[in-house]
Amino acid sequence: MVPAAVLPAAAVVPAAAPGDDEHPAMTRTIPRRPDEADVPVLDVRAMSKVYGEGDTAVHALREVNLVVRRGEYVAVVGQSGSGKSTLLNILGCLDAPTSGRYLLDGLDVADLDEQQQSVLRNRQIGFIFQSFNLIPRTTAFANVELPMVYAGVSRRDRRQRTEAALDLVGLAGRSDHRPNQLSGGQQQRVAVARALVTSPALLLADEPTGNLDTESTADVLNLFDGLHSTGRTIVLITHDDEVAERADRVVVVSDGRLSERNGVRS
Ligand SMILES: Nc1ncnc2c1ncn2[C@@H]1O[C@H](COP(=O)(O)OP(=O)(O)OP(=O)(O)O)[C@@H](O)[C@H]1O
Ligand SMILES: [Mg+2]
Repeated sequence: MVPAAVLPAAAVVPAAAPGDDEHPAMTRTIPRRPDEADVPVLDVRAMSKVYGEGDTAVHALREVNLVVRRGEYVAVVGQSGSGKSTLLNILGCLDAPTSGRYLLDGLDVADLDEQQQSVLRNRQIGFIFQSFNLIPRTTAFANVELPMVYAGVSRRDRRQRTEAALDLVGLAGRSDHRPNQLSGGQQQRVAVARALVTSPALLLADEPTGNLDTESTADVLNLFDGLHSTGRTIVLITHDDEVAERADRVVVVSDGRLSERNGVRS
């Protein structure tokens, strides 16, 4: 794998070419965000998530508050079932809270319709799923390229950026392989490449190193360090204390409640 520490990710995965954002699907629907300079990227207020109803209801998140500022690198830790993925899925606009507010870049996500949310997701957020969510029977290349197809990036730019992203995660030689022809760790790296290929301002990663060996874990963490140093905001779930140590802040999820690792309850 290319040692990511010596390659600033922004330089390797080229930023969107001028005009990319001018695709009609990308310009039409997002309201203007507030003008305040220091609007947090993520601002979660008294947010709860309940799955199901009555006796079988699961209170996955209980009135949580979380503010993440631009450029912060936050690790989220906690036991299995504590609510980490639930939180990240809501942050990524993949699920809606049951109550409370969630402001993304100053915009209340509840005010956006589904199409506006998907445009915002595509434009701003790279998401790495705990279960990879690669498209089966589709090559690694096509999986990584897909977010740029939605974003209206030209075919030539897509090819160049897909190749650079696969190279960055050490899979240049596997671009024609389908997910079922890749190991778990390789699939995870395809998912990392797919999340990075649009150079998102916000990277949300659910156990991105959970299936990687020590060397690949170090490579992916170096990649994240590179993104962090170029000003990207990162929220990463991990079970691994060594992974959490790379972050600026550690947030602990315990039975649906959040606290900062320094002990301050939020
Ligand atoms: N779609 C769902 N329907 C009902 N309950 C759910 C659903 N998704 C999650 N849960 C429940 O919500 C709680 C939080 O789940 P979540 O996936 O957020 O945990 P997690 O902290 O990510 O765990 P892990 O570390 O095992 O990935 C769990 O008790 C889980 O069983
Ligand atoms: Mg989870």
